[in-house]
Amino acid sequence: MSNRLFIFDTTLRDGEQVPGCQLNTVEKIQVAKALEGLGVDVIEAGFPISSPGDFNSVIEISKAVTWPTICALTRAVKKDIEVAAEALQYAKRKRIHTGIGTSDMHIKYKFNSNREEIIERAVEAVKYARRFVDDVEFYAEDAGRTDNEYLARVVEAVIKAGATVVNIPDTTGYCLPDEYGAKIRYLVEHVNNIDQAILSTHCHNDLGMATANTISGVLNGARQVEVTINGIGERAGNTSLEEVAMIFKSHKETKIETNINTQKIYPISRMVSSLMNMPVQPNKAIVGRNAFAHSSGIHQDGVLKNIQTYEIINPKDVGIDDNAIVLTARSGRAALKHRLSVLGVELSQEKLDEIYKEFLKLADRKKDINDDDILLLAGAQRSENRRIKMEYLQVTSGVGVRSVASLGLNISGEKFEAAASGNGPVDAAIKALKKIIDRQMTLKEFTIQAISKGSDDMGKVHMQVEYDNQMYYGFGANTDIIAASVEAYIDCINKFRM
Ligand code: KIV
Ligand code: ZN
Repeated sequence: MSNRLFIFDTTLRDGEQVPGCQLNTVEKIQVAKALEGLGVDVIEAGFPISSPGDFNSVIEISKAVTWPTICALTRAVKKDIEVAAEALQYAKRKRIHTGIGTSDMHIKYKFNSNREEIIERAVEAVKYARRFVDDVEFYAEDAGRTDNEYLARVVEAVIKAGATVVNIPDTTGYCLPDEYGAKIRYLVEHVNNIDQAILSTHCHNDLGMATANTISGVLNGARQVEVTINGIGERAGNTSLEEVAMIFKSHKETKIETNINTQKIYPISRMVSSLMNMPVQPNKAIVGRNAFAHSSGIHQDGVLKNIQTYEIINPKDVGIDDNAIVLTARSGRAALKHRLSVLGVELSQEKLDEIYKEFLKLADRKKDINDDDILLLAGAQRSENRRIKMEYLQVTSGVGVRSVASLGLNISGEKFEAAASGNGPVDAAIKALKKIIDRQMTLKEFTIQAISKGSDDMGKVHMQVEYDNQMYYGFGANTDIIAASVEAYIDCINKFRM
């Protein structure tokens, strides 16, 4: 068995399914190109039948990317497969990823079917997909809870039907690492034609075991891993690409090799976090803000004497440079451009000039500008062409008095103003906003991200607003937390389908 491990990135499909993380096509192309630069082997670009947006993104990513295989997801349904094949028409290397649930739970409750019928449907789907492409991956959904003996029969049948890769998803994130590894080993040992296909892992993180399960799968014979940047994905997420890549880079004794250029890990992590408005937890392995920060006295002392006492990875190996994050009001355009490019954002001169102006304004209010700030500024530029923009906000508040806010909005070029009082400054500002935009909308979730780098840091607000039975997600960032809250609310409204 070869030691080459194929990296299948599903940030743009499984990762993008996270509520509030949806990207537009231009943003998806930006991520896809960065994934290509990172060296992934396969990019799962979307689920074309699910929406015209997904269909279009698969087309555009196929045109934009050269080396990685572009993969499109389908159910074991003919129409899905036809639409996926159409969306993949421009891909230089293409793969259809089709499949069906194989656990008794899925067979009984999802399909009201039986084991034999599911095998027939699986085989039919693979054969049909092979009519359009040479590379067909089959997924046995909920394989984590599928009986191994039956799973082996499914795998053998789909390989015979022409599957080139067989994905063994732990869809619910239930398996223990030993159990998942044993499942892969069982398939390697009991499927007669296993040498004709590659086994793939696809582990969810519901019990925090996604990476451990993936590694166990590889050590037992899987040679493709399905992963996402920052481990994003539905519920508790998927296996994180950066963890798997760095585990195999660190543990040379496994002899497992990937094509990942690990120095590009940090920039793409920041890019995905910023585009998806999905903060990376500070203690996240490899890419979290604190991943390489030694604060305890004992650690600092050891690190100063010899870095290897407490650091198993050189931060430079994942693209974190020493001079990270110190831009000030005295920094020029070139420094900003360099920092943005380290963070994976390439801009035209015109856009750079616009961001630089905003950067100087922010630097007036805040001494040190960090990477998050810079990405937020770049993000704010992206939303410049939104229909509703905040022109001004004035709030008075204090202890023992009711807060009052006056707000000015620009809606498609027209100016609107309103004032309102509330039981706090955010309440007053949002009431003023609702006076201008009079809709039946309800604030469902409101999260202010902790300010961690000093009282002059940017406050970040994530919001969830319900309108017309739909949930919308918004994000705002400002040194003024009340303004960030109003921006987040406006971001939601700008997404309303009206
Ligand atoms: O988690 C899962 O089972 C999936 C499949 C659709 C591959 O995402
Ligand atoms: Zn999944």
